[in-house]
Order: sequence, then C-alpha cells, then structure tokens
Amino acid sequence: MAFRVSHFILITFTIIFAIVVGATTASKAPKLVNIINIAKFGAKPDGRTDTTRALQSAWASACSSNKPATIYVPTGRFFLQSAYFNGEHCNNKAINIVIDGTLLAPDYRSTRNTGWIRFEKVTGVSISGGVLDGRGNDLWACKATSGGCPTGATTLEFYGSRDIVITRLTSINSQKFHTVIDGCQNVKLQGITISAPGNSPNTDGVHIEHSSGVAVLNSQISTGDDCVSIGPGSSNLWIENINCGPGHGVSIGSLGWSLQEPGVQNVTVKSSTFRSTENGVRIKTWARESNGFVRGVVYKDLTMVNVQNPVIIDQHYCPGERNCPNQVAGVRISDIRYENIHGTSANVVGLKLDCSKEHPCSGIEIEDVNLSYGNGRAHATCVNALGSVASLSCLI
Ligand SMILES: *[C@@H]1O[C@H](CO)[C@@H](O)[C@H](O)[C@H]1NC(C)=O
Ligand SMILES: *[C@@H]1O[C@H](CO)[C@@H](O)[C@H](O)[C@H]1NC(C)=O
Repeated sequence: MAFRVSHFILITFTIIFAIVVGATTASKAPKLVNIINIAKFGAKPDGRTDTTRALQSAWASACSSNKPATIYVPTGRFFLQSAYFNGEHCNNKAINIVIDGTLLAPDYRSTRNTGWIRFEKVTGVSISGGVLDGRGNDLWACKATSGGCPTGATTLEFYGSRDIVITRLTSINSQKFHTVIDGCQNVKLQGITISAPGNSPNTDGVHIEHSSGVAVLNSQISTGDDCVSIGPGSSNLWIENINCGPGHGVSIGSLGWSLQEPGVQNVTVKSSTFRSTENGVRIKTWARESNGFVRGVVYKDLTMVNVQNPVIIDQHYCPGERNCPNQVAGVRISDIRYENIHGTSANVVGLKLDCSKEHPCSGIEIEDVNLSYGNGRAHATCVNALGSVASLSCLI
C-alpha cells in the first residue's frame, strides 16, 4: 500500500511537472505560424552551398501572403553570399525570421562594401535567435598589414524600415559594423550578443542614425569600436542594461561634419556597465562649422570598471588637424544629465567636458558622479560647460 501511494504521488507529480514545464516552454517559444522552412527551397546546412536563393524565395513566399509568416532557418551552418530583402512590394506586415542555426558570411574579397544581410523599406519584421558569423578575421589582418583593403560589409542593416524587433540574435566577427539602423522608426533590439576582438577595426556594435524610437536592451556587446554609436538625425533612443567591453563605449557622434546636419535628441542610457573600454559615455563633435545639435540626454545608473574616459564630451575632434578650416565647433550641446555614475577610471581625469568656445555646452547637470582612480578620486575638467554643478565646481 505504501508503495502504491508513493507511486501514485510520483506519477501525480510527474504529470504536474510535465504540465508546468510544458506550459512554460509553450509560453516562451515564439508563436510559429505559417512556417516557411528554407530547407524546402534547397538550403543545405553544409557550410558551403549558397543559401541566398533559398532565403530570397522564402522571403518572396512570406511577402506574397498577408497573414503572419515565419521564415525558419534550422540548425546547422548555412553559407550565405548576400541577402537583400526589400519590402516595397511585400504584402506582409508580420514576418518573423526564426534562426536556430548559423549564417556564414563570404570571404571579404567577395563581399560588397555594403550590407551582408540588408533589409530595406520593410515593416513588421522580427528576427529571433541564430548566429551571424561575419568572418572578419582575414579582413582585419589585411587592414593591419597592408593598404588597399576593402572596407568590408556590415553584417545586418535595416534601412528606411519600421516596427522591427530583433531578439536573442548573436553577431560575431563582423567585417565592419555589426548592425546598422538607418532611417528607421520603432526598432527594438533585445537580448542580443555582439562579439568581436577589442582590436578589430570599425566593428561598431549597433550604429543608429536618422532614426527614431530605437531601443537597445539587455544586451552584451564586446567589440573593437563603439558598442553603440549614434549618428545625426537620431531621436527617442533608449539604451538600458547593456554590458559593454571591450569597446569604445556608447558614443553620440562624431557629429558636425556637415554644415546642415539634423541633430540628436532625447537619448537615455541607463543601468549599464562598461568594462575596460576606451570610453564610457561620450559625445564627440568635429571642430567644424555646423548647425547640428545634441539635446536632452540622460546618463543614469552607470558602472565604470577601469574605463579610460568614463564621461567625456569632446568638441574638438579633428584627426590630423585637417578639414577643420576655422576650428569652430558648431554643434550645440544642451540639457545633458549625468546621474549616479560610479566605478573606476583608468585615467586621473574621469570626467572631461571639453565644449565649444563659440557655443558652450549648457544645461549640464551632474549628480552623484563619483569615480575613483587608483587609491583616490578621479578628477574632472570642464571647459566652456555651463550648468547646475559644472558651473560651481567641476569636481566629481
Ligand atoms: C523620449 O524617448 C522615449 C523613448 O526612448 C519616449 O518614450 C519619450 O516619450 C520621448 N520623450 C519625448 C519628450 O519625446
Ligand atoms: C566616492 O567613492 C569613494 C570610493 O568608493 C568613497 O570612499 C567616497 O565616500 C565617495 N564620495 C562621495 C562624495 O560619495
């Protein structure tokens, strides 16, 4: 009897467990509807056969329907020469690309210097899971040893698109930028992993420009250039809970190359950690005449670990002192708030605001910024910076 009771309990528990696990798994997995498996179009997970045509066919098939569709890339390694997805004649506003496998880029000698995987004028596209391997090593070696190397391909680009969601995607060893969001609206990158060596050239993690409503959340970014770089014409950006390092930090700029340039507005960077990066949070503008601006930026709850320039505004960017005829830093910087920033600086100067003489930074707020250097506190220097704390004393 005892045996049978315990047996009964065991079975009961097993059933409950199965139901609970089943329910949890089901609610977590993306809803796969109207599945278009690229294997159906001849894709082979052998790392050699070109998958370009299979992906294009799957895209065409998804676009021909106006019901939500899932393009599915199964496990395995798929060689992909290039993929260009245009949404202009696409009837579908809900295409989910689910990747379980790895997509392998071609050798840099046979890539175009634009995007390897490029979406243009698409609406309602999501990508989840998968690994994009840009195979940048040979190109970086070329750049390190000889001139005349191609610039290389950006791994994943979205142009002129809207309502985009990218989750749990991994991008490794991009030839140039890992991801570019340009001319887009309402884009969310969540739980992504970006990885390339700290010395790989121009491998920015996420580059955003001419876009509005872009969020980068809960992501790991280790790369050779900016973890996130923000170019002209960007507004309403939200960057939260990212781990950056190695890399060059989160950078607004370089701005102000052009005289007429759209500004950067309403950017929040919060709850993030920077480890052994070149910069933490940076705003960088050319020492050139420009009507550009940066306004309404909040940097909040940040941790710096051994960062060379944890907090920096540099309005005198002009490599080689060329192309800056009057050395006037035209970009107007205003309403920048630094709040609760702690940790360690690798340099004695932990906060450096080097603003324009002609157009001083205004509305700078510094609250609870405390960085250590060695056994003491890091210093701060402020030039042409006006604001609540900065104007009284530029101490941190
Ligand atoms: C600033 O951007 C955030 C999204 O990042 C948005 O929720 C908020 O409404 C924007 N604020 C203004 C004043 O536009
Ligand atoms: C700054 O941080 C150091 C070390 O973490 C600490 O000893 C010091 O009290 C802090 N200063 C302020 C003003 O918070």
